[in-house]
Amino acid sequence: MKITVVGAGAVGATCADNIARKELAKELVLLDIKEGFAEGKAMDMMQTAALLGFDTNIIGCTNDYAKTAGTDVAVITSGIPRKPGMTREELIGINAGIVKGVTENILKHSPNAIIVVISNPMDTMTYLALKSSGIPKNRIIGMGGILDSARFKYYLSKELNCSSNDLHGVVVGGHGDTTMIPLTRLATLNGLAISNLLDAAQLEKIAADTMIGGATLTGLLGTSAWYAPGAAGAALVESIIRDEKKVFPCCVSLDGEYGQSDICLGVPVVIGKNGWEKIIDYKLNETEQVAFNKSADAVRNMNQVLVEMKLV
Ligand code: LAC
Repeated sequence: MKITVVGAGAVGATCADNIARKELAKELVLLDIKEGFAEGKAMDMMQTAALLGFDTNIIGCTNDYAKTAGTDVAVITSGIPRKPGMTREELIGINAGIVKGVTENILKHSPNAIIVVISNPMDTMTYLALKSSGIPKNRIIGMGGILDSARFKYYLSKELNCSSNDLHGVVVGGHGDTTMIPLTRLATLNGLAISNLLDAAQLEKIAADTMIGGATLTGLLGTSAWYAPGAAGAALVESIIRDEKKVFPCCVSLDGEYGQSDICLGVPVVIGKNGWEKIIDYKLNETEQVAFNKSADAVRNMNQVLVEMKLV
């Protein structure tokens, strides 16, 4: 197996680090446009191999897509991250052209690759990768819902004073501060509905904190987060490479599922060796479906910018 991570910034490098530690592939290519940057990060990570005991060969390169040939899974993290006060959506002008070019270059050298999109605004970048590449929809997966669900579990675990590993909780919809939908109704602590443990005000606060989870970190860090986004990307790659069939909320192309079409949006899917293999219907109630439709409207508006930019 061969994995490529495009973009050696904080998210890309952290994702690559997690992939190497998990030994998901013998060969891992880290590519960046900045001269020497990916080479330096790869060398630094390779110098942890003797300390951490992993056996993945990390190859850094500057824009040399020939080195990515034969990639099974490519993770796209390229583009600029947001600064405090910015929304993910404000990044579209710069990131759309970059993501389109990266997708083309990856597929030129690895026509069968499964593509994982992390660049923001992620839902629209996933749609762009799908529409501009024309590859089967199951091979394009946007990473957002796994991360947002991890943040949801973090806030839940703090409130419940429990292990986040004992929690199940899913965030669907867009990966935006106002478009994501933490499904509090369906969250459980080892099978027990959390509505038995927390009141409506507590649940509302946790949902609100989850939605601005990324923005809160951006405010603290001065730039977008990387540990959880990198780990979430690697978890997704792991389920593909090891054909784990894990259910993760991911941004995928909808053809009528959840009442939406011609859009990429976050829903629970089975992730395995073929990419996303099946959409699971969580049977949203009316309020949740209304929120999902509203989220779709916002993402669709954003996708329209791609048309205006003549990218799709
Ligand atoms: C975040 C970025 C990766 O939510 O979108 O941290």
